[in-house]
Amino acid sequence: MDHFEYRDGTLCAEDVSLSEIARVHGTPTFVYSRATLSRHFQAFDQALTGMPHLVCYAVKANSNLAVLQILERLDAGFDIVSGGELDRVMRAGAPARRIVFSGVGKTETEMRQALTVGIRCFNVESEAELERLNRVAVAMNKRAPVSFRVNPDVDPRTHPYISTGLKENKFGVDIATAERLYREASEMPGITVVGIGCHIGSQLLDLSPFMDALDRLLALVERLKAQGITLRHIDVGGGLGVRYRDENPPDPAALVAAIRPKLEATGLEVMMEPGRAIAGNAGVLLTRVEYLKPAGDKHFCIVDAAMNDLIRPALYDAWQAIVPVRQRSDLETRTYDVVGPVCESGDWLGHDRELAVSPGDLLAVRTAGAYGFTMASNYNSRPRAAEIVVDGTAVHLVRARESYDDLVRGEAMLPL
Ligand code: LLP
Repeated sequence: MDHFEYRDGTLCAEDVSLSEIARVHGTPTFVYSRATLSRHFQAFDQALTGMPHLVCYAVKANSNLAVLQILERLDAGFDIVSGGELDRVMRAGAPARRIVFSGVGKTETEMRQALTVGIRCFNVESEAELERLNRVAVAMNKRAPVSFRVNPDVDPRTHPYISTGLKENKFGVDIATAERLYREASEMPGITVVGIGCHIGSQLLDLSPFMDALDRLLALVERLKAQGITLRHIDVGGGLGVRYRDENPPDPAALVAAIRPKLEATGLEVMMEPGRAIAGNAGVLLTRVEYLKPAGDKHFCIVDAAMNDLIRPALYDAWQAIVPVRQRSDLETRTYDVVGPVCESGDWLGHDRELAVSPGDLLAVRTAGAYGFTMASNYNSRPRAAEIVVDGTAVHLVRARESYDDLVRGEAMLPL
């Protein structure tokens, strides 16, 4: 459930109409609902009650400082994948002990940065990374807490670009080699083995891949125990899907209920890394119709948001709902391709959408709170959108729209 609904024919974020936000802040603008973010985080946190646990929000989904701050206040943990994300999370006030560091390409600089602040653990994804981390930690006279991200080789049955738990994906340590790596890591002077984890893909709509992956991980935990290697935590990853259209993903409570019996038996602390399920439906992208353009048998609805603001449709052929901010009964409904101003045929937000709109009207692209702004670019020298958090009746501008000065910051001309 989210807090975007129509009141008197106008779409509102909590208690604020999106028309009012567009009037004051312009478009395109991402609008997030604090109540929705909190509700979604708490759905995970409360489902895990009774087991030692830490829900680590996957920062890549939406890394705005205010979003991180909202979750930090709820005692969230954070799953980061870069030094930049570590910096953001620390700025938002998160204690290092609630941060886990994932990703296949951690640099030495990022390792030092994370060891200096003392993060909860490194989710290590290869033997080469383990060796490097050991070397960096020894040089700093520290021990790096390590959890291997195991690749359990299960098919998450999602889009191939966001499937990560198959053997042929670049992610994680092959489950067959993991055992040897645990043995090696447990002897390394710069490493303390603390956990095991996996992340098999994103936008998963079915519990069975989670269960299959967990069974494989737990079998490995047992084999390790028999060799005297005991772990403190198990991280079941992120990946729980959300409803974009008519999907019926399990809710966090259903996921936890399914895995709880297996996890409780282990006594391990349980970690999770949800991103989309927390932020996705907590945000919309607000955009204005610039032109309506007939072309052959088609009608284009040209809006002021584009693939540089929201790349999911162009990149994954993703379907996201596009709804009018003000419902109109005075206009004929037509079938439109909703497109942006960028000079690419792939610049579209939605195909074949039934809309009753005229130029100047506002539209909202739903489920844009995750992998929206974080994947935005400046292509076509388009300033990135503003970001707003609505909290009840309060409207907070949490990232100003970029200016032309922002676009050229750091660039220099030649001394001709
Ligand atoms: N943990 C790790 C190690 C991850 O790689 C990811 C996402 C997550 C957690 C969070 O997954 P989530 O709960 O959000 O599904 N840009 C794509 C999604 C890429 C996901 C990458 N990894 C999209 O817009 O659909």
